[in-house]
Amino acid sequence: MPVAATPRLPDFAWGVATSAFQIEGATVEDGRGPSVWDTYTGTPGKIRDGHTAATACDHYHRYSEDIALMRDLGIDVYRFSIGWPRVRPGGTGPANGAGLDFYERLVDGLLDAGITPMATLYHWDLPQPLEDAGGWLDRDTPHRLAEYAAICAERLGDRVRHWITLNEPFEHMALGYALGQHAPGHTLLLDALPVAHHQLLGHGLATSALRAAGAPHVMLTNSYTPAVPFTGNENDLTAAEVYDVLHRRLFTDPVLLGRYPDLSALGLESLPFVKDGDLEAIAQPLDGLGVNYYNPTRVAAAPSESPLPFEIVEFDHVKTTDFDWPVIPSGLTQTLVELTEDYGTALPPLWVTENGCSYSVEPAADGSIPDQDRIDYLAAHVKAVDNAIAQGADVRGYLVWSLLDNFEWAEGYHQCFGLVHVDSETQDRTPKASFDWYREHIVQSRRP
Ligand code: NOJ
Repeated sequence: MPVAATPRLPDFAWGVATSAFQIEGATVEDGRGPSVWDTYTGTPGKIRDGHTAATACDHYHRYSEDIALMRDLGIDVYRFSIGWPRVRPGGTGPANGAGLDFYERLVDGLLDAGITPMATLYHWDLPQPLEDAGGWLDRDTPHRLAEYAAICAERLGDRVRHWITLNEPFEHMALGYALGQHAPGHTLLLDALPVAHHQLLGHGLATSALRAAGAPHVMLTNSYTPAVPFTGNENDLTAAEVYDVLHRRLFTDPVLLGRYPDLSALGLESLPFVKDGDLEAIAQPLDGLGVNYYNPTRVAAAPSESPLPFEIVEFDHVKTTDFDWPVIPSGLTQTLVELTEDYGTALPPLWVTENGCSYSVEPAADGSIPDQDRIDYLAAHVKAVDNAIAQGADVRGYLVWSLLDNFEWAEGYHQCFGLVHVDSETQDRTPKASFDWYREHIVQSRRP
C-alpha cells in the first residue's frame, strides 16, 4: 500500500494530545503485556472509586472514529503516545508485531486525514518486568528505552517524523517515585532523584537511537510551572527558587546546557549516580522543547521538621478548575518568556505540547455540551501564547490536552479534560462546545 506523505506543518501548528494508557483500553489484547499502571490500578485504594483503564476510551478499537473527529476539528498535528508494553511487552526480548501493527494503522489513518503524527515514546507506562528489575531507579532502564525507541523508529520512522522521547519526567519522578501518588507508587522523597537522571539518560540515548534511524524532529516534553513565592520574605523567595531548580532546571539544564544545576539547597552536594559520559549522552541537540503548562505553583518555606525545604500553598481568590487547579494564563506567557531568556541560544523552538483544563459538564437535553469554562480557559491561554511570541518566544505549536475525556491517573474518570465527551457506558463520543470553538479558532487563525 502506498504510504501517504507527512503533511508539511504550517509555521504555527494547532493540535491535540492524548496518551496510550489514558485512552486505548484493550490492555490484554494482541499480546500487550502489563505495565506499572496496570499493576497500580489493580491495587485496591490507589485510584479514586477503583476506576481502571481496562477499557478507557476504547480507542484501540475506535481509533478510526477518533481520527474522523480530529479531521473534523481541523488540527494540523496529533500527539499520541506509543504503549511500550504493547510494542515490547517484556521490556526486553522480542517486539510484539501486533502492537506495532496498531500504531501503523493509527499513523496511516492520520496521514490519510492530512494530520501530522507526533509520537511520544514514554508516557509513564513502564512494562512491569522492567519495574520488577528496578524500574527507573536502575541504570539499565535508559538502555531499554533506547532499544524500544529503535524498534518504534524502524517500523514507523518512514511516516512518523516528529518524536517526543519522554513526557513530564518531573511528574513521573515526583508522583511515581517520591510521593507514591502514581505508579509505581514508591515514597522515596529525595531518594527518588536517580529517577530524574535515569530518565534524562534514557531521553539522550533514545534521541541518539531515533537519529540513527533518521528521525528529523526530536523533542523532550517537560511540565513547566512558574514558582511563585508565597510572600516577599526571604525564606519564601528561597523556597520558590529551590522549587524552580527541582521542577525546571533539573530537567532542562542537563538537556540544553549539558550540566546539572546546583542542588546543594536540597542537601545534594554530589550526584553519585551520574557516571562519566552521561551528560554528553543526555545533551543531544534537539529540534524543539515540549512545554506542558497548566498553572503556576505557589511556594512557601517549609516548617523546619519537613523533609523538603518548601511547601505548596494555594493561591487566594483565583478561579479554579474542577481539579482545584488555579486558572492563571499569564503563567504560560511567563513560562515561555523565561525559558527564552534563561536559555538563550541553547533553547530550541518551543511547542506547547499540552494545555487544558478539567471541567465536567454533562450533555444538556438537546445533546449539546456547553463547556463555556473550557472555552474561556483555552481562549485565555492561546492569547497568553500570542503574548509570549510578541515578547520574543519562538513557539511553533499549541496542543490541547485532550481530545477525549479520559483516564486521569489517580483520579480515574473524575477529571474531564476532553474537547469531546465520552460516555463511559456506551463509549459514544459527543463534541463539546469547546470543540466547535477550537475548530473555529483554527479556521480564523488561518485567515490572512
Ligand atoms: C499531564 C500529563 O502528561 C497527562 O497525562 C495528564 O492527563 C495531564 N497532565 C492532566 O493532568
